[in-house]
Amino acid sequence: MADRGIVDGSRRRRWSAGDVQEAFVISGQIPLWLVDGDDRIAFVNDAAVQLLGYDSDDELLGRPSHDTVHWKHPDGSPYPAEDCPITHATRRGEPIRIERDWWVRKDGSLVPISIHCVHMEIDRRMGTAMTFHDLTASVQAEDERRRLDVERARLGEVRASRARIVEAADQQRRRLVRDLHDGAQSGLVGVVMELQLALKGEDVPDGVRTLVGDALDHTRAAIDELRELAHGIHPSVLSHRGLVGAVRALAGRASLPVVIEITDERYPNSVESTAYFVAAEALTNVAKYARASSARVATTRTAGHLVLTVDDDGIGGARPSAGSGLAGLADRLAALDGTLTVSSQPGEGTQVRAEIPLPAGTPDGRR
Ligand SMILES: Nc1ncnc2c1ncn2[C@@H]1O[C@H](COP(=O)(O)OP(=O)(O)OP(=O)(O)O)[C@@H](O)[C@H]1O
Ligand SMILES: [Mg+2]
Repeated sequence: MADRGIVDGSRRRRWSAGDVQEAFVISGQIPLWLVDGDDRIAFVNDAAVQLLGYDSDDELLGRPSHDTVHWKHPDGSPYPAEDCPITHATRRGEPIRIERDWWVRKDGSLVPISIHCVHMEIDRRMGTAMTFHDLTASVQAEDERRRLDVERARLGEVRASRARIVEAADQQRRRLVRDLHDGAQSGLVGVVMELQLALKGEDVPDGVRTLVGDALDHTRAAIDELRELAHGIHPSVLSHRGLVGAVRALAGRASLPVVIEITDERYPNSVESTAYFVAAEALTNVAKYARASSARVATTRTAGHLVLTVDDDGIGGARPSAGSGLAGLADRLAALDGTLTVSSQPGEGTQVRAEIPLPAGTPDGRR
């Protein structure tokens, strides 16, 4: 068995960590700092002079070590030698290793270092030899990592709060529709019934009969308008029969044939509402601008998304920036961390594609 540093059977020299360190110190790669028994700087190599921002070792030799390079904490508060573990270890003649410390450069800035101190004879008295390593790069990388973590967490909060805002707005829509239904609409239905009753009387003068008949027509028209309004705010069929039912209702009112390829799978409210609003706006646009002969609304489900597409075979050339409909949908999708893509080459029809993220834990089953 070969001794340390001796050529072994495989003719390779074995190096200990100490040998390597010594080689680096000698070659000047590792900053070296020798302090005598009075804590005076006895020797510094070029690497140490450079790291601490001095021009030459003359500026350091003979000066008190702690008070020259270790006199303040990173927060700027004083660091008395009495509090310094290096000073105490030196006095006791013990080695010490510190993984993260801050030394003060000539210009007062701080440099993060790790330091290794051993007791040794210097100028025929016991002193301390210190080697240290510049940790600037790893401290910067750590700071950057921490900054990114904070940023990621903040971004997560912003995303969650935007999704909550969308969900709160949807809830308000649903409540408003219920209030319209239970309040104004049922009140008007009551009026219709009373007016119908009034018309049943035999002794109603003709002039009054005409007036009541008109009032009846106006009230019925008001109910229809109210229904339309409520439907635009939030179609109750969406809550009751899900996306497929609501898109069928849209297709039933469309002026062109609409093929529907949607399963009866149910999704969280915000997902169904978003998909519905995309389908409604895209089909309205088809009717208004596309001059298409047919349209198709389809959904597919991936691991994390519900993907809804609305295709038409019309003239193409849709520009989301030209109006507020498609841009508003894009904003809504962005708030849920989804995307809206419009593909619409002139002459090649239009596809509106929405990728709607499914909240974690959305069940995969069908009703
Ligand atoms: N399917 C389509 N085929 C052809 N052109 C379309 C189609 N959809 C939209 N466009 C064009 O893109 C423009 C932008 O549509 P968008 O829905 O954003 O706004 P808008 O319909 O004009 O206004 P709003 O939706 O606010 O009533 C439309 O003005 C229209 O010119
Ligand atoms: Mg539009």
